[in-house]
Amino acid sequence: MQKEWYEIKGGKRLEGTVTISGAKNASVAIIPAAVLAGETCVLENLPHIQDVQSFKEILEELGVTVDYTDGDCMRIDSRTLKNTKALSEAVSSMRASYYLLGALLGRFHEVELALPGGCVIGARPIDQHIKGMRALGAEVELDCEKNIVRAKAQKLVGAEIYFDVVSVGATINVMLAASMAEGTTVLSNVAKEPHVVDVANFLNMMGATVKGAGTDVIRITGKPKLHGCGYAIIPDQIETGTFMIAAAATMGDVIIKNVIPTHMESVSAKLMESGARVIEGDDGRDFYLRVIMNERPRAINIKTLPYPGFPTDLQQPIMAYLCASNGVSAINETIFENRFNHVKELRRMGASISMKDSNTAKVKGIPSLRGADIYASDLRAGASLMVAGLAASGTTNVHNIHFIDRGYEFLESKLCALGAEVKRREK
Ligand code: EPZ
Repeated sequence: MQKEWYEIKGGKRLEGTVTISGAKNASVAIIPAAVLAGETCVLENLPHIQDVQSFKEILEELGVTVDYTDGDCMRIDSRTLKNTKALSEAVSSMRASYYLLGALLGRFHEVELALPGGCVIGARPIDQHIKGMRALGAEVELDCEKNIVRAKAQKLVGAEIYFDVVSVGATINVMLAASMAEGTTVLSNVAKEPHVVDVANFLNMMGATVKGAGTDVIRITGKPKLHGCGYAIIPDQIETGTFMIAAAATMGDVIIKNVIPTHMESVSAKLMESGARVIEGDDGRDFYLRVIMNERPRAINIKTLPYPGFPTDLQQPIMAYLCASNGVSAINETIFENRFNHVKELRRMGASISMKDSNTAKVKGIPSLRGADIYASDLRAGASLMVAGLAASGTTNVHNIHFIDRGYEFLESKLCALGAEVKRREK
């Protein structure tokens, strides 16, 4: 629904407990990866977000049986998969569809895929994905006219592959294809994000042999056949960080449950540097992080880096937080070339932000943002505007919230349970 928006009455301290959902960026890789099994996989802790729903529809278009069992698990039976051409609108509208390249090539040695457009945070090329597939022996043809990629291989043979760019998508995609190649594949200069490790663990549950995920080198010994399995998705690192930042931005006191604290170290460190208290705990069942803030944040500098550095997906939310700091913060985005579309919206709320260069924003803190009508341009820009609206004085209307629905499960109910005044409105 493009006509919906969030109305936020700002200035309310967030207080209480929130439970984090399954990781979007692990889910959108593991769901397509499940087709490698050619049997039934049962996935737990998938978030109810648009991207997961989209993948359900995409797999069903390919002839895969996808349904929800009791207890909210997604069951994927890919024995019935017969079509390796994924060319629908649903495919081309979601970047993570590119994982079908590795999954269908790995199992069927052929695939035709509608390419995802580059969303507004940059060109979003897939040259490293293609480099990896070719290294494994596939012929890959990119039809830029029709925005389709075609790949086929007599067989896939393990290879040594060095990625020119640290890429989450390419690392995962090539891991998928290599898991069923003949022989051993060695991947270097790989991404080490938590969701890369989660996909590797899932592949191993299906009988693959993937070693070293989360380190600089991943070794994969290909298998002729993988099998079905059950698997639980890890908690969402970026949703966790978003709630940590929202808690600090509203001078709140929030316990964030179902987290993996080590995934959050760079975020915890930067929030503590700005004056927040971040307490790690374990209630006997779940790990939690408690974020407490009682003062105006100190200005800090942010540089986004591949994991374990500060995540690019939280650059936009933390900028909203720093708009009300008591100094000047520099925010340097090193991963994407155009991830500052939220700046103009924050300026509508009174933020004082100037661009030092195309990748560095200078944020001069003001006492408080004021409510305004603002427009999300992508998923994490939307998260940034939510944080701004929660912290601002007065009422803020965040439009284009379909972007936010892609990646945050039950956002308004989670925020209201913490004392926020957020209402979903529609024209
Ligand atoms: C994944 O995108 C995430 N998406 C992004 O999260 C996240 O921002 C990004 O990783 C970085 O952490 C999913 O996991 C579905 P990359 P991805 O390949 O894989 C360049 C969100 O908000 N590059 O790691 O597309 C690329 O242009 C989304 O949840 C190449 O040059 O990111 C970028 O500058 C937004 N060639 C850099 O590498 C390639 O073949 C990192 O991109 C691939 C990437």
